[in-house]
Amino acid sequence: MVESGSGGIHIDARTFDAFCALVYERAGITLREGKESLVTARVARRMHQLGQTSVADYIAHVRADASGEEMVLLLDAIATNTTSFFREPAAFTMLAEVVGGLLERGQRRIRVWSAASSTGEEPFTIAMVLAEVLRGRGLDEQAVDLAVLATDISTKVLDRCRNALYSETVLRPVPADLRARYFVRQGEAWRVCDRLRALVTFNRLNLARPPYPMKGGFEVVFCRNVMIYFDQAVRTRVMAEVGRLLAPGGWLAIGSAESLTGIRHPFDQVRPSIYRKGPP
Ligand SMILES: C[S@@+](CC[C@H](N)C(=O)[O-])C[C@H]1O[C@@H](n2cnc3c(N)ncnc32)[C@H](O)[C@@H]1O
Repeated sequence: MVESGSGGIHIDARTFDAFCALVYERAGITLREGKESLVTARVARRMHQLGQTSVADYIAHVRADASGEEMVLLLDAIATNTTSFFREPAAFTMLAEVVGGLLERGQRRIRVWSAASSTGEEPFTIAMVLAEVLRGRGLDEQAVDLAVLATDISTKVLDRCRNALYSETVLRPVPADLRARYFVRQGEAWRVCDRLRALVTFNRLNLARPPYPMKGGFEVVFCRNVMIYFDQAVRTRVMAEVGRLLAPGGWLAIGSAESLTGIRHPFDQVRPSIYRKGPP
């Protein structure tokens, strides 16, 4: 069924189906047809480390691993982590407006969740925007109880988040004044300053496995460019959990290529890709 030829690993239709079933079952991710070569290319390195040449044997190995660690490594290998600072900026404009309004009304505790944080550009952009909103009002981070939760299924990207080190190229979308305020040069790269890093907590969370272990009360949730990997059933479950965890009147940003059309959810659409939970 699977053989290794010219350095590559090949996969037949039945084995690919078994692979897709495993990934859907554990991560809610729907692998599209035609992705066989992409998927095998991504898992090939891990299989090589294990001395395996058969995808079917590898699937059996993942299923047999009661610790779940092999599944984590598999998901690390197949996840697509494309992201950038200030990606789809309308969401950050909304964030600044919402948090500005809350501070205006005297609220001094703000919680924001980046639900698929990838390598950290999204949660650190959130943290920068929050810090800038405070700065604009002459407040500092001590005056307000601010916290950003960043979660992802991939331990590999979460390690990158914790390292908080970004190349010159990756930092291009960050305006020069913000770079000067929130990044420290480290050799060829730039590290997020301690003050900003202190605002962000990183944890592994599988969105396909509700209920999530957080208490909730988030004023704003970013759940962007991850639902594209999910089918309607998983999207519905994710949105129900996001709805539960948002504070009354809380705001949700989804990706501009995503849609909540056709799924049950507890939000009103406010602008393209921006939704709001109703008051209690
Ligand atoms: C394309 S990135 C999006 C990053 C960021 N939200 C943005 O919009 O730039 C998708 C992220 O979703 C994560 N992901 C995929 N399936 C997931 C799941 N079941 N639970 C949590 N995160 C998941 C991937 O590891 C990846 O880091």
